[in-house]
Amino acid sequence: MQKRRDQPSAAKKIDRIKKFQTILIIYYSMRLQRVSLEGKLTLEIKFERGNKMLEVVKRSRLLMMTGLLSVVLAGCNGDTEANVVEDAEEDNTEEVEEDSDTNEDSDGGLDVGIILPTRDEPRWVQDEQRFMDALADSDYTTEILFSQGSSANELQNVETLVSKGIDVLIMSPHDGDAAGAAAQAAADEGITVISYDRLITSTEAVDYYVTFDSVAVGEAQGQYLIDNAEGSDIPLYLYAGASSDNNAFLFFEGAWSVLQPKIADGTFVIANSSEADALSDTAELTRDQMGSIMGQITTNWDPNEAINRAQTHLTAAGDDFKGDVAILAPNDGTARSIADTFSADSDITSYTITGQDAEMASIQYIIDGKQSMTVFKDVRRLVEDAMGMAITILDGDTPETTGSYNNGAKDVEAMQSEVIVVDEGNVQSELIDSGYYEASEFTGLD
Ligand code: BGC
Repeated sequence: MQKRRDQPSAAKKIDRIKKFQTILIIYYSMRLQRVSLEGKLTLEIKFERGNKMLEVVKRSRLLMMTGLLSVVLAGCNGDTEANVVEDAEEDNTEEVEEDSDTNEDSDGGLDVGIILPTRDEPRWVQDEQRFMDALADSDYTTEILFSQGSSANELQNVETLVSKGIDVLIMSPHDGDAAGAAAQAAADEGITVISYDRLITSTEAVDYYVTFDSVAVGEAQGQYLIDNAEGSDIPLYLYAGASSDNNAFLFFEGAWSVLQPKIADGTFVIANSSEADALSDTAELTRDQMGSIMGQITTNWDPNEAINRAQTHLTAAGDDFKGDVAILAPNDGTARSIADTFSADSDITSYTITGQDAEMASIQYIIDGKQSMTVFKDVRRLVEDAMGMAITILDGDTPETTGSYNNGAKDVEAMQSEVIVVDEGNVQSELIDSGYYEASEFTGLD
């Protein structure tokens, strides 16, 4: 809007100079206030819980700045107003970068971006906590974002982190194949991509992989069922993870490799998959064969879907498939759901059920005798490997690897960690004495 500009009198000029001085004083005191806010906001943003929080913080700061300025400026002349508001707008653009100032590296950006699949599963909240613990005293600047089970969010998270200048991206994909586009977006900017726990598949845009030995996880689960089996013709209920996750295949492959001979010799009878039953003489399954079995028994890593599957299977099962049963559950979240569903069936006399992740809730289930075992994957170790690799890359060196995984497009250099079976016999030594959890976090632990 155009303002009329009359020639001011001397008294008016002095009055305007005074007003202008007042504006300057208020403006600079606000800048000071902003500087003091900076520390607090940077902390809030340091381990930002998704893009939304950053947006909310930025927006509320913008509102606060423009709101205060418009109050201060009411009654001042147009030129002054225009200049100061413009300054304030510039400030807010700067603030996006300034928010990360104390959290930035020398080139003004983040060093490492970390993307995890979802906050809805305790497994990944564990990883977030372990990253935060490991980074508490670090000189490197990082930001952790969650994709909340959406490949679209994942891509957006990558773009956010790329725009903040990351040099290394550590990403655990929601969907291995779909994550190729996100990895490519980072690789196009010269960013080194480390796949974390889950492999990003069917793309060349992944440089390294840090992981646990996932086949060993499945083997340990299968072996636990075998070690606790008594007699023959034991009904065996099989469950699997999401087919969009390469790990789900590796877990199943490991479990099948030990269970199949025990199905073939009559120790177990498959209760809930005609596809698995039809392949019970096949020692090594192809990926397609595993896919067809998993289509019948997938939980999609979703505890509610696990309950629905288990209820359907129990409803369809005849008496021969009740009594004392064995259950291959792929992880702790689904194990607890499946265990609850089986406990509620009065025709189930007892069950042995597997898990993985050593989630706190499952450790309590193990102490209470509701879940038989879990496979402990020490996330402290995985975080250490991933950050060690990232720092080596930031230092311009080549990280050490211990093998490779084919992701369908290339062999990805990998660093692999071992896993540990935990049941009621060694909860104390493996999880409490090692400092992974506090004894006080559980009840009934002797
Ligand atoms: C991870 C498991 C986790 C599962 C579901 C897998 O890729 O390796 O630890 O339980 O995803 O999130």
